[in-house]
Amino acid sequence: MAEIVAGIGISHVPALGPAVDAAATGKDTNPLMKAFTDVGSWLSETKPDVLVVIYNDHGASFSFDLVPTFAIGAAESYMPADEGFGRPPLPEYPGDADLSWHIIDSVVPEGFDLTVCQSLDVDHGFSTPMKVLFGTPEAWPVKVIPLAVNVVQQPTPSAQRCYDLGKAIGRALRSYPKDVRVAVIGTGGMSHQLQGERAGHINPDFDQRFLSEIVSSPESLASLSNPEYINLAGSEGAELVMWLIMRGALDDDVETGLSGYVIPVANTAAGVVAMQNAGSTQKAASTENTAALQNAAAL
Ligand code: DHB
Ligand code: FE
Repeated sequence: MAEIVAGIGISHVPALGPAVDAAATGKDTNPLMKAFTDVGSWLSETKPDVLVVIYNDHGASFSFDLVPTFAIGAAESYMPADEGFGRPPLPEYPGDADLSWHIIDSVVPEGFDLTVCQSLDVDHGFSTPMKVLFGTPEAWPVKVIPLAVNVVQQPTPSAQRCYDLGKAIGRALRSYPKDVRVAVIGTGGMSHQLQGERAGHINPDFDQRFLSEIVSSPESLASLSNPEYINLAGSEGAELVMWLIMRGALDDDVETGLSGYVIPVANTAAGVVAMQNAGSTQKAASTENTAALQNAAAL
């Protein structure tokens, strides 16, 4: 049977890629950046075969005239999207269409009407976390299943709906008969607003609360309304609802590995948290929290 071996919440701000590279080469000495690459190493220790990557498209593949609420890839591979500067020079992402169809066939009858994409280009919401977690390999070491969520055009799905979809995806994964190791990655956030009067809005108190409660009491985060997310985390910080899909797929009882929080990366608060089901058969070696959740110097 399939096993869910890891859950990760991680920002997808494009500037994270260069920031992680700068930290790795010693050009950036902010020790908090290390949390992001540490989570990549931690993820490799859990030996995933497939990643379910929950992200949002930013108008690259779904024009604003045609935005599905939830869309899942069901292809054998996915290309990195052209976001205006040509297609980025990244290897294509291998898919697992069989597992995609198992998820679709499991959750649609439960009432989660996913849009099925047999062809899908994935933008920075997907490719930034992949780069942060795996670097830029010649070939990606895992298969992927992209799950795109509308967090850009109102009305967006509620946090509770996202959490409930995650629970349905968790049930689907656990009922998959093949012996595959699956990690679930929720991307986006943390607090940020890229436009309007509150452009530059960052809310470290809310981000710290979110990093803690996504582990210990996700129901309280699921009960917040979308206007509350926008008020607290900013119009784009509302991307954080995607972490609840990841959290819903895991067991109620999880253990955390690593977490980290950096402000700002570009205009965005960036965070990462890694967790495993408490009953997981193969624990990742690193369970200590290497990066403090405080970033006092930057405050
Ligand atoms: C930026 C883009 C994002 O999609 C995001 O979530 C955060 C920041 C940016 O372009 O700076
Ligand atoms: Fe985004």
